Amino acid sequence: MEKAVFVALDFDTEDELTKILTQLGAPNETYLKIGMELFYHAGDSLVKQLVKQGYHIFLDLKLHDIPNTVYAAAKQLAQLGVFCITVHALGGSEMISAAKKGLIAGTPEHLKIPKLLAVTELTSISNEILANEQNCNLAMADQVLSLAQTAKNAGADGVICSPLEVEKLRKVIGDSFLYVTPGIRLANNQAGDQKRIATPKKALKFGSSAIVVGRPITQAANPKKIYQTIKKEFS
Ligand code: C5P
Repeated sequence: MEKAVFVALDFDTEDELTKILTQLGAPNETYLKIGMELFYHAGDSLVKQLVKQGYHIFLDLKLHDIPNTVYAAAKQLAQLGVFCITVHALGGSEMISAAKKGLIAGTPEHLKIPKLLAVTELTSISNEILANEQNCNLAMADQVLSLAQTAKNAGADGVICSPLEVEKLRKVIGDSFLYVTPGIRLANNQAGDQKRIATPKKALKFGSSAIVVGRPITQAANPKKIYQTIKKEFS
């Protein structure tokens, strides 16, 4: 998975899904991210089907609830054969370690335990929102670092953050942790709702372990070409 480009499948029709899959590579070389929209539409049968075809699946449901509930949810998700799942680091260390325990308890013997990634601050959160709505008096980089340290100590395998924060996190937390970064835009792309963005080339330079890219690929006139361009920039 080192230097993987996860394509975020943020849509809710099989037609769109089929169309985009034909533009990407062979299943065993292709990394897909399924988030709330597609999962709530198609359910776990779609996930199982894609796993069976050989795709590497990042199941991004961003669990955030009391530890007991997150334990039980992670235990269920562990049965799907996905590569990784996500929780919100803001749920706290007890919740993160409950997710880890749920994954361990729920993974059937023939499967690998999914990696647990903790979302730090969403890449759609700006410095202003952090200060004025979350009432956080830390700078963004320090808040992300604090959440990442909590996640690491609680047993997470990595974090989701902006590429802009990876250099600092790697310096403090080290290289035996995954830094997966959405908020990716090519130089000529619209940012949309994303705030803390970088190009694939910058993400590579900053040390992202893997990147997550949705609309720049899925809404491109030629998704295949953009996917190839992004993969090249990030390698
Ligand atoms: O279309 P775009 O490239 O902005 O998609 C980014 C994807 O990454 C979305 O599916 C979004 O849910 C996800 N994500 C994010 N920021 C995070 C965690 C996940 O944008 N911190």
